[in-house]
Amino acid sequence: MKILLVGGGGREHALAWKIQQSPLVTELVIAPGNAGTATLGRNVAVKADDIAGQVTLAQAEHPDLVVVAPDNPLALGLVDRLQAAGLRAFGPTAAAARIEASKAFAKEVMARGGIPTAESIIVDDYAAAERFVRAGGRPWVVKADGLALGKGVVVAETVEETLQALRAMLQEGVFGAAGARVVLEERLQGEEVSFLAFSDGGRVVPMLPAQDHKRLLDGDGGPNTGGMGAYAPVAAIGPELSTQLTTTVMQPAINTLAELGCPFVGVLYAGLMLTAGGPQVLEFNARFGDPETQVLLPLLASDLVEIMLACVAGRLAPDQVRWHEGSALGVVLAAPGYPAQPLSGGRIELPAELPPDTLLFHAGTAEQAGQLVVGGGRVLTAVGLGRSLEEARDRGYALADHINFAGRQLRRDIGWRGLRTADV
Ligand code: AMP
Ligand code: GLY
Repeated sequence: MKILLVGGGGREHALAWKIQQSPLVTELVIAPGNAGTATLGRNVAVKADDIAGQVTLAQAEHPDLVVVAPDNPLALGLVDRLQAAGLRAFGPTAAAARIEASKAFAKEVMARGGIPTAESIIVDDYAAAERFVRAGGRPWVVKADGLALGKGVVVAETVEETLQALRAMLQEGVFGAAGARVVLEERLQGEEVSFLAFSDGGRVVPMLPAQDHKRLLDGDGGPNTGGMGAYAPVAAIGPELSTQLTTTVMQPAINTLAELGCPFVGVLYAGLMLTAGGPQVLEFNARFGDPETQVLLPLLASDLVEIMLACVAGRLAPDQVRWHEGSALGVVLAAPGYPAQPLSGGRIELPAELPPDTLLFHAGTAEQAGQLVVGGGRVLTAVGLGRSLEEARDRGYALADHINFAGRQLRRDIGWRGLRTADV
């Protein structure tokens, strides 16, 4: 079986690694891929969001399955276009992917499905929004409706900061059309968890819970990033809570999307806040997370290709998704200047051999004259596997510490919440 994988980050290297292990797979093409995926299949230089280019490539390659991993091509309707061309694709249609691409639509799905989430209102007129915010006299979380490269959320501390964010989005158009509509949301407190599930449009089978670390610096300080590291599973979400989240969050979302005429096939990702009053949904994504995928797939015991084929065929069953015991922890190595202005070109030194129970996934790497160099913001994810989270952490960092490039940035405290729980 031939697979075409769309995307080129750390998540896609992990997907390529897992897909290549399937006995069903004889050929893997990655577009555009990266220096890591080049060792697992054939990279083709078509950008992930070049929809026409991806359709042309798929028609020429005739894969048995196309796996669309990143958010942009999903929102732009690549799956719809592939289906129209008679190809099998894993991932939601543009209509279903609106659960990520429009925060207002996601709120509508949550309201219809009775899914626990923060109180919110949708605004598109600055003057009316200002009156509402001033009358309430408290700050709000301000979210641009559309995709804004992960920068569309401002957690305001004051009324003035709330208004400043509203002006930037509604009047100054800093996010263009993505910020023409804004969701104002009540601020929640608690621990954040990533809860992902496979769906065939009707049924939902959860993955292990994972935790990302979005801030650049230790102790969750500094600016927001795409994610500086992750681990799985998360002790705060045991089997009982996982079942409860499947029933109260994931299944109602899938049912509501089906009722709205846009059944969701692919990976549904709920960003949850574990508040004192119970779990609440902060956002939905319509895809695998990055860097969550780099720690989830090494723990997946089942054949990922079989699961994806079952989703596409509408015959997903819970016993198809089995997990290994133990933990995985991934540390992201980022370029100097990331996230504001990542600097490319630095030579990367890798260990000749990986230490035992580690995996190294490429993201922003490039080959220059036979030398591996920094080519993007998040450069590599060093993953450690272990019987315990502590063991996984020690192995992940043992690998990370053997990788060098000038100005390398990494957090030293990935997994701190889980390790703190384990100590008590
Ligand atoms: P989102 O893109 O919706 O996940 O938002 C990005 C980040 O903003 C989240 O990971 C949270 O840290 C934070 N955030 C989003 N919504 C809220 C909320 N209602 N209360 C507090 N923090 C939030
Ligand atoms: N890890 C966050 C995301 O994939 O959106």
